[in-house]
Amino acid sequence: MTTQIRCLISAGPTREWIDPVRFISNPSSGKMGYALAEEAVSRGFEVYLVSGPVSLQPPTGAEVIKVESAQEMQEAMFRLFDQASLVIMAAAVSDHRPSHCSRQKIKKSDFPNSLELVPNNDVVASLVGGRRPGQTIVGFAAETENLLEHARQKLEAKDLDWIAANDVSSDEHGFQSDFNDVTLLSKSEETIPLGRKSKSEIAKKILDYVWP
Ligand code: CTP
Repeated sequence: MTTQIRCLISAGPTREWIDPVRFISNPSSGKMGYALAEEAVSRGFEVYLVSGPVSLQPPTGAEVIKVESAQEMQEAMFRLFDQASLVIMAAAVSDHRPSHCSRQKIKKSDFPNSLELVPNNDVVASLVGGRRPGQTIVGFAAETENLLEHARQKLEAKDLDWIAANDVSSDEHGFQSDFNDVTLLSKSEETIPLGRKSKSEIAKKILDYVWP
């Protein structure tokens, strides 16, 4: 009997609430993470998809864990991390949250001109700290300039096995689009341009390399 590979994928944005009607977030659609989850299911992996708020239909066969904030995403990822052989952090996690979330709507006359923010933990970097042998950990780098240089710095700083570098400055691919233009970088210094393709095709290519 072959054991099923357990794959843990994060997708989508996080929301960091200011009050009950306002939050800090980003335009991530979740499409890349969902495409990866769908592809992983089709390869027979046992898939756990930790998803920020998105308007996508979850892939049939994946176990979906819905979260909102970076802190909730971190909790879910930590809970599932140990059992996963392959971890792909495709979510666009908010780096900061308001230092305080008001229970009541802040009236515009009382709304401050500046918000005090506190940093969120770096989820993938914290996960890597507790990795066990045999786990493969893949991150994404969303960049608007110096794509490969910034991506390689992140790969090294976060001690990842792979990073998928994508340029999010263009409407032609990136956050909201069905297409992506990705270069895959490995710990062992490979640089593999995957080209501009649909997110489903990019997902296939990424899995071909990171879990051959
Ligand atoms: N990430 C994370 N936790 C965070 C921020 C990012 O786990 N608080 C992960 C993302 O899911 C991605 C990788 O780290 O896999 C890189 O995220 P990115 O937003 O490109 O970069 P940052 O680390 O946030 O750095 P910067 O904002 O300076 O580009």
